[in-house]
Amino acid sequence: MTTAVLDIYLTEADAEAELRSDARTGLTAIPKVLQPKWFYDATGSEIYEKITQLPEYYPFNAEREILHTNAARIAAASGAETLVELGSGSSEKTRLLLDALADTGTLRRYVPLDVSEAALREAMGALAVDYPQLSIHGIVGDFTRHLGQIPTEGKRMLALLGGTIGNLEPADRAVFLRSIRQQLAAGEQLLLGTGLVIDPGVMVPAYDDAQGVTADFNRNVLRVLNRELGANFDVDAFTHLALWNTEREWIEMRLRATRSMIVHVAELGLDVPFAVGEEMRTETSAKFRRSGVRDELESAGFELTEWWTDSQDRFALSLATAR
Ligand code: SAH
Ligand code: AVI
Repeated sequence: MTTAVLDIYLTEADAEAELRSDARTGLTAIPKVLQPKWFYDATGSEIYEKITQLPEYYPFNAEREILHTNAARIAAASGAETLVELGSGSSEKTRLLLDALADTGTLRRYVPLDVSEAALREAMGALAVDYPQLSIHGIVGDFTRHLGQIPTEGKRMLALLGGTIGNLEPADRAVFLRSIRQQLAAGEQLLLGTGLVIDPGVMVPAYDDAQGVTADFNRNVLRVLNRELGANFDVDAFTHLALWNTEREWIEMRLRATRSMIVHVAELGLDVPFAVGEEMRTETSAKFRRSGVRDELESAGFELTEWWTDSQDRFALSLATAR
């Protein structure tokens, strides 16, 4: 029978204190900026799931194709007893890994970690039914702060899928990869999903879909600020933008004010002026090349041992071993 436990290291009070600090810093910065992790309240997590079903959003299916084709190889190369997943969301694609690791007979436990308690609870409920032999240990936490809480039992493979690593800026990414390395013993592994640099004509529509689902996801961060910090953003007064930044090789999502306004953020005692046309950055989603992934992994103390791509070379999955 499944054993399932959920540890909560990111309490609502912690999250709110951090949101206050991030919002104060970001809304008073020039240009204004918000951190992407605030998209993922229960509604934001649901909208992200809708994004993964969009015809334009190729990263999800591309990574699933890689997992589908290579899950048995990944499982054989890893021999993991514990699969830890950072930013696990619905754990939907992870099932391919769980199945393959179960087939090798090594897998004992699955440790999904996510900031979104709602998404984590839903995923764990579904997994408990479908994987009765598995011990599931969920962690509500921030992967930039709570890696030290990850259980250490059994040989571990730590997965970071979906291209989520690309939502961290390069300096933060280096710190994050090093802190992941510090949590692992030599020989343990990291399975890392990264979107690749491809034609902007394919990348940009993935972040600006025809149905406007990504626009809704982007504007959701304003609803989060309204609810959590008593802000009075007129959500409809912001339009969604997705741009390819050629120099930084990342997609930038922004919200552009369609009129001038002053937004009051009651809990911060802050009045935030927006000029007409002013843009606020809400996410960067970096895309990678093989050499860059290899270098970043090496700098963090990993050796890139396998590199798999989908049939259209849009996405890569790297298996790296802690040196
Ligand atoms: N891995 C899934 C979901 C990707 S969406 C997939 O490949 O489809 C990104 C996920 O990371 C969301 O579930 C979000 O809640 C989570 N997340 C974002 N920032 C986080 C952080 N700092 N710490 C933990 N989880 C985070
Ligand atoms: C979770 N992350 C990898 C997604 C991405 O592609 O950067 C989030 C997302 N933003 C817009 N669409 C999807």
